[in-house]
Amino acid sequence: MSVLAIDAGTTGVTAVVVGHDGRIVATGYQEFAQHFPEPGWVEHAPEEIWQAALQATRTVLDQVDAAELEAVGITNQRETVLLWDRETLGSPRRAIVWQDRRTADICTRLRDAGHEERVTELTGLRLDPYFSGTKLLWLAEHEPHTWALVAQGRYAVGTVDSYLVARMTRGVHHVTDVSNASRTLLMDLRSGEWSEELCGLFGVPRDALPELVPNWGEIGRTDPASFCGLDLPIAGLAGDQQSALFGQTCFEVGDSKCTYGTGSFILTNTGSTLERSDAGLLSTAAWRSPGGELTYALEGAIFVTGAAVQWLRDGLQIVGSAAETAAVAATVEDSGGVVFVPALTGLGAPHWDPHARGLLIGMTRGTSRAHVVRATLEAIAFEVRDVLDTMPGASSLRVDGGAAANDFLCQLQADQLDIPVERPRIVETTALGAAFLAGLGVGTWSSTDELRHTWQLDHRFEPSGDRAQADAAHARWADAVERSKGWAAP
Ligand code: G3P
Repeated sequence: MSVLAIDAGTTGVTAVVVGHDGRIVATGYQEFAQHFPEPGWVEHAPEEIWQAALQATRTVLDQVDAAELEAVGITNQRETVLLWDRETLGSPRRAIVWQDRRTADICTRLRDAGHEERVTELTGLRLDPYFSGTKLLWLAEHEPHTWALVAQGRYAVGTVDSYLVARMTRGVHHVTDVSNASRTLLMDLRSGEWSEELCGLFGVPRDALPELVPNWGEIGRTDPASFCGLDLPIAGLAGDQQSALFGQTCFEVGDSKCTYGTGSFILTNTGSTLERSDAGLLSTAAWRSPGGELTYALEGAIFVTGAAVQWLRDGLQIVGSAAETAAVAATVEDSGGVVFVPALTGLGAPHWDPHARGLLIGMTRGTSRAHVVRATLEAIAFEVRDVLDTMPGASSLRVDGGAAANDFLCQLQADQLDIPVERPRIVETTALGAAFLAGLGVGTWSSTDELRHTWQLDHRFEPSGDRAQADAAHARWADAVERSKGWAAP
């Protein structure tokens, strides 16, 4: 028996089928368009996300026997918000994506009005355009005609998981889970429920929001006419970073992982304790069991890592593929003094500056594309170090996501962190986590203990090289980061 998982990420949708032994037996992937209507704005068409989910699912169904599937789990890019018509399931406008910076001024306004301390106390987050709440307030203020239909109950509000469940069940279910809800600025992190106070502050009618359901257990069934002929229980739901934490079997307090995707996200399980950081980390919900027990995490959210490599490929066009970067970077001994701060959508943890912008510094007449490519991979390792430096005591780090396959990056990472970096055999951990949740929900796996035994080490990268040299390179990076701050401030 096996489980289907849908991972609706920022640049595309992956579908996988996971067998009882925890191995991925089939994979499908479909990219969708990124829309940049103005500098700093990022949007996705909901219908394109849905069509990508259907296409990725069809691809896996060509590789497996659909009768073997026991359940489906969903994981998704978080914070992105969408609206859809409860009757037709059509969306009146594009989704506003987590990377979108259009609400920087709203954040400043709310901060100046003295709201940040209370918002942080209730949500574990901060006032930054990253989170959904200010995106919804922007819609209410800038698109009042659309928003009136939200207030009247015709349009539903949701995150990407919520939208996919609505599409898969032909509008029967309007749900989300605590891992997604805790990123909206609208959920009370302690109770794990929507907060009337926060809904009031961000002008979001409570009734427009989805019902909060546990992370595993049957939520509803897919409608075969809508979803590739499948009639399956939807039994697992989680935001992608929490899903990766689950997929890496980080079930114990102190277990940590770093996922290299569009951005990179380091999460540490803090168990039933809602821990707070004064060093720029977020407190967030990891998952809630069907019995109601909440597990929390501390998170370092870095906005642009894999997206910087994508920019080398599509923007600068100096590499043909992401996979090529390791070989190109290895042709030079170091970055030749070049530092790249990929603050292309501002800076997240631990710096939090929505007005920072990308900076490439230190070029000379001798600078080659290899130096720039190497500086980009180094930037990813530096960014992750900046977060880990605020989490003292880590003895190793589990990594996953697309770029975890890059040996060059993993070694750079271990050298910068000065602790071993562990790569599991399966690096598509985000999708794996959603499959684990769904399988736990229908009894494919009986416990998290059973799941833990499926984790297998592929490679452990030990720190090597000259510590003083690593620290000197990091100090140069820190200097460049300071120079990138505030660049787009009004
Ligand atoms: O918080 C944003 C995150 O959920 C996006 O993840 O994997 O699409 O970069 P990813």
